[in-house]
Amino acid sequence: MTSTLFSPIKLADLALENRIVVSPMCQYSADDGSATDWHLGHLAMLANSGADLVVVEATHVERRGRITHGCLGLYSDDNEAALARVIAHCRRVGTAKLGIQLAHAGRKASSYRPWEGGLGLKQDDDPWETIAPSAIAFGNAWSAPRAMTRDDMDRVRDAFVASARRAVRLGFDAVELHMAHGYLLHSFMSPIANHRSDEYGGSHAARLRFPLEVARAVRAVVPPSLPLGARITGSDWSEGGLTPDDAVALAKALKEMGLDFLCVSSGGITAEVKIALGPGYQVPFAEKVRREVGIPTRAVGLIATPQQAEAILADGKADMIALARAMLDDPRWGWHAAQALAGDVKRPPQYARAAPKLAGSGLSRLTGAGGRETVEVRMVRSSAIAMLFAVMTLCACAEGASAKNARARPSAAHRSASATGQAVMRKKPPVAPTPRQDEKSWMDRASTPSDSGGGGGGM
Ligand SMILES: Cc1cc2nc3c(=O)[nH]c(=O)nc-3n(C[C@H](O)[C@H](O)[C@H](O)COP(=O)(O)O)c2cc1C
Repeated sequence: MTSTLFSPIKLADLALENRIVVSPMCQYSADDGSATDWHLGHLAMLANSGADLVVVEATHVERRGRITHGCLGLYSDDNEAALARVIAHCRRVGTAKLGIQLAHAGRKASSYRPWEGGLGLKQDDDPWETIAPSAIAFGNAWSAPRAMTRDDMDRVRDAFVASARRAVRLGFDAVELHMAHGYLLHSFMSPIANHRSDEYGGSHAARLRFPLEVARAVRAVVPPSLPLGARITGSDWSEGGLTPDDAVALAKALKEMGLDFLCVSSGGITAEVKIALGPGYQVPFAEKVRREVGIPTRAVGLIATPQQAEAILADGKADMIALARAMLDDPRWGWHAAQALAGDVKRPPQYARAAPKLAGSGLSRLTGAGGRETVEVRMVRSSAIAMLFAVMTLCACAEGASAKNARARPSAAHRSASATGQAVMRKKPPVAPTPRQDEKSWMDRASTPSDSGGGGGGM
């Protein structure tokens, strides 16, 4: 049987060897919008995940449009140079093609990083004025934005265009507009955030006017050979908010404008929205858009196993699968999916000896032929667990003996954290840290508020 997940797909002139996409994921680790060493490691890791396309996180088109002080931007020459270094590194060491998501956070800007609490920045933490279609705050913990004038719209549209030009110059293989998760372009479309009485508010067509203007202007500078897509909203999950039919109307307009693909997500329009999460919960939105509009469509959201991804594609519900948390959990997800589905992925030559031989010996990562766990794997895992328990018991004894000393000096974990990503954090977390998330499975984690991005889903 041939795997659909491992079959090729073409977007404009970009030929992808499989349909696995690394979903854009903010790292909150930039310095005034510029990528850092964290991005070098993170993106290079994902460029060897087996996904043939890695989409770089929401990259903001103006300084004011960043979600947090640590968000990535493409609004300055410094930003461009920093990203050029990361891209060159990924191309040297990785196998994936690289896309970029261009974004403006609108009224969700000026927030703390998720691990700092994720709410709106307080006065002591260098907040900035945010802009949006209407002067309505995202939630109680955020300041009300300033309602945008036509001049603001011109500036933001031009900023999207300027960043798109930079993305093309950097040699990205695909560009994607962030039109979801409650950020600026989505907030124009949703009646929940847009209460304007001019030609940019009121009817659905009027609310689409500015986001479509941005898409048209960006399409004009992204060559037709280079795929341009958008992440759109399948549902606001809210009374009076955007519906799957609205997603279809938007998708038709974007297709007509020459966009090459869409990713259908949902949520994020207010801090209060609660979403009933479950495996593949956004797939029906992607399926509807694909069926009614006929544009290459990506499904995303709680897609975790190769078999689940394969079934979505084989059943004609989407053309590509994007994964976020599952990729962080297992950055060789694509390699393991290839083993499970008898597909093939590119690997750097240094690692070429890993997967195929291990698959043959039954010692691959929990999957033998056909994705079934083998006896050998179960035995190896049982021994590993037994050893782990023995080591933990020894550590617990040692810890008890040195408890006094431990209180007097920082732990190794603490020290190593401040030597890496923490170096770019300027402030201490203003709220108590959430419970250790690594104590839960990633599926459990998916339903926690901190993973649903500033409240209400999305990121
Ligand atoms: C750490 C993290 C950062 C994210 N940042 C972005 C982002 O920059 N842009 C975006 O559109 N979605 C972002 N998301 C949402 C994911 O791309 C994805 O849509 C969502 O997590 C659901 O997919 P999953 O169940 O595979 O994680 C982020 C998710 C996570 C976990």
